Amino acid sequence: MSELNKIALKILEKGKGILAADESTATMTKRLSGVNVPSTPENRLIFRETLFSATGMTECIGGVILYDETIKQESSKKKKIPELISQMGSAPGIKVDTGAKILAGSPDEKITEGLDGLRERLKEYYNLGAKFTKWRGVYNISKNYPSKLSIESNAHALARYSALVQECDMVPIVEPEVLMDGDHSATDCYQKTSDVIKKCFEQLILHKVDLKGIILKPNMILAGSSSKNKISNQEVAKLTLDCLENSVPSEVPGIAFLSGGQSEIEATENLNLINKLNKTSFIMSYSYGRALQQSALRFWSKDIKNIDGTQKIFNHRAKMNSLAAQGKWSKDLEI
Ligand code: 13P
Repeated sequence: MSELNKIALKILEKGKGILAADESTATMTKRLSGVNVPSTPENRLIFRETLFSATGMTECIGGVILYDETIKQESSKKKKIPELISQMGSAPGIKVDTGAKILAGSPDEKITEGLDGLRERLKEYYNLGAKFTKWRGVYNISKNYPSKLSIESNAHALARYSALVQECDMVPIVEPEVLMDGDHSATDCYQKTSDVIKKCFEQLILHKVDLKGIILKPNMILAGSSSKNKISNQEVAKLTLDCLENSVPSEVPGIAFLSGGQSEIEATENLNLINKLNKTSFIMSYSYGRALQQSALRFWSKDIKNIDGTQKIFNHRAKMNSLAAQGKWSKDLEI
């Protein structure tokens, strides 16, 4: 077993998943403003340290994706944040893309940037303790989108990123996110997600990426958020499994879904059903941002000194998702 394969499997072992706490400063400012907390480096750190030092980390969180600011910060006890995460039994990871920018040639779409100087930045993150990384490609669905140009160029960038990350002995999380915004049907989502993922693997293979040493972070197959034709959770699970079984090579050890704007319960319920029906060889787990943090953030914002109360809410959400990653969740466990 390669070292990278071992890291990937450890992150997702025993119902563990990933906490995506890698919101850029701009995104975190939006989240904090939403709950009336000033977005200062100190406040961003207090919230994140509260989660990273919660007991739920040890049982339920195999990896934490950090943002550049956080990986370089120290905890209130003067401990480096990657060290705190490792001590809790979890692996520190880092978002290394520099964001999605307008795609020249198709200005309604985005291309993710960050390849220039990446090899050097990766060395720095590795030395700071990172074991894995993340890069997110983003695609919107409408009549003519995602275009061939967006599918090809984002897949190329994801593959170049992954090859560089593995060269630096870290596990790349490959995140092609087909957005749920819009009124498209679940069938459209299925088709576009399938096209996007297949192209990603074509490029990953071309760039000689070891597929046993990556984690795929896809969206679930859902009808668009403003679609009138919503589908049941059972259908979401069936379509998601079918899509991934037909587009992801079997060497890939694990799939960790993004929550993408689903509510906390919806993201847990869908993951649970996916695992109940999963006949593939893939571990199916979570790499949630909003669906792990939303309630905790709302509670914390009322009293940012209430560490215990905030951690209790986070621990619960992490536990619910960990059960869902094993197909053992049920609604009556929710409080
Ligand atoms: P959400 O789960 O909030 O979609 O965030 C996951 C993520 O990392 C997006 O890149």
